[in-house]
Amino acid sequence: MMAPEAPARTPSAKPAQLAEPVLEIRGLCVDYGYGADAVSAVVDCDLVLRRGEVMGLAGESGSGKSTLAMAAIRLLRSPGVITAGEVLFHSRPFSEEGPRGTIDMLAANDSVLRTVRWSEISVVLQSALNALNPVITIGAQFDDLLRVHRPSFSNRDRWNRSAELLDMVGMTADRLRSYPHELSGGMCQRAMIAMALALEPQVILLDEPTTALDVVTQREILEELMGLRDQLGFAALFITHDLSLLVELADEIAVMYAGRVMERAPAASLFHAPRLPYTYGLLNCFPPMHGPRRPMEGIPGSPPDLRVLPTGCAFHPRCRWAMERCRQERPVLRPLGGPNREVACWLHAGDATIPRELAHPEPPAAAGRPAATGPARAARARR
Ligand SMILES: Nc1ncnc2c1ncn2[C@@H]1O[C@H](COP(=O)(O)OP(=O)(O)O)[C@@H](O)[C@H]1O
Ligand code: SF4
Ligand SMILES: [Mg+2]
Repeated sequence: MMAPEAPARTPSAKPAQLAEPVLEIRGLCVDYGYGADAVSAVVDCDLVLRRGEVMGLAGESGSGKSTLAMAAIRLLRSPGVITAGEVLFHSRPFSEEGPRGTIDMLAANDSVLRTVRWSEISVVLQSALNALNPVITIGAQFDDLLRVHRPSFSNRDRWNRSAELLDMVGMTADRLRSYPHELSGGMCQRAMIAMALALEPQVILLDEPTTALDVVTQREILEELMGLRDQLGFAALFITHDLSLLVELADEIAVMYAGRVMERAPAASLFHAPRLPYTYGLLNCFPPMHGPRRPMEGIPGSPPDLRVLPTGCAFHPRCRWAMERCRQERPVLRPLGGPNREVACWLHAGDATIPRELAHPEPPAAAGRPAATGPARAARARR
């Protein structure tokens, strides 16, 4: 028999924008290094993740996505240092063991952080093979986790719970006896996701969780993950350089460039009507899956060296619509028409002429996420 579990969580019935916040990041600033040599990797970032929501965080490599997420849960590696901001985790006491109330993550001591990390906020990183311990079996790794966090479980309970978790991610219980090197990359990543779900966290941070996998396996895992999100109701911060993934998965998307959030919008709005030239460039870096064909344009140049940022808008050397003002003054995030829409771009301030590419009407409010195009869940193969 399994030990009695905490009551199952039901997914939020409210639309994401009406649900209450679970993780609030306000004015977060992170530097690497100190003094004159410091590089500002995250500058004045605000993100609000709501219960049951999938928030996408997109941007090219080096734009500060991982730094932002790791700083929020205080897993930043040296020489990273948080220089300003606030991160609040609003816990809901689902279990006797869990923390209650609001936790100021930047002020919390190690003991509080230990109760929050993994139990309430878990992380899935890109390389599961590195994250898993190579010298013990998958089952032993689940066992260690449950032994610490579910002390009331018997040996049999831990085994049963581990098998149940593997089943949730489409793996059979016999894999508990496997070592990580005996599993494919996709299976390792599934096992990591199962471990991240083991304690029924309220938030999962997914940092490029499928980037190392082939596209078919990637899509299957993402579909499973979103199915689990619907079933379990956790909120997810999904980080990727691939904006095309997010338009199908996320409720809201924030786009980062050179350490700053430059555009934020519901996924359908961002997909159908991007307002920021950089977002427009990211969307045109891949062939469209829906609607009429359009040429792939890409973004010229490469992301800036954070030690020598361009003046004004950091994107101006790569922006086809850059104006004189863009070279002089840095735009700040400001609200646009439409709920939860913000952009930092001079084209949408004052009397600038907005290019037609960035002037598409907002999609209807009910548009939701653009439809997924992946293989049917029922037809998936276990890779
Ligand atoms: N360990 C480090 N030491 C010094 N600078 C770093 C380190 N890690 C990241 N950075 C700086 O922070 C920037 C953002 O990195 P990161 O958060 O990993 O970006 P992303 O996840 O978007 O690819 C990098 O462009 C780099 O300048
Ligand atoms: S502010 Fe200017 S340079 Fe920056 S994205 Fe907008 S148009 Fe381009
Ligand atoms: Mg990263």
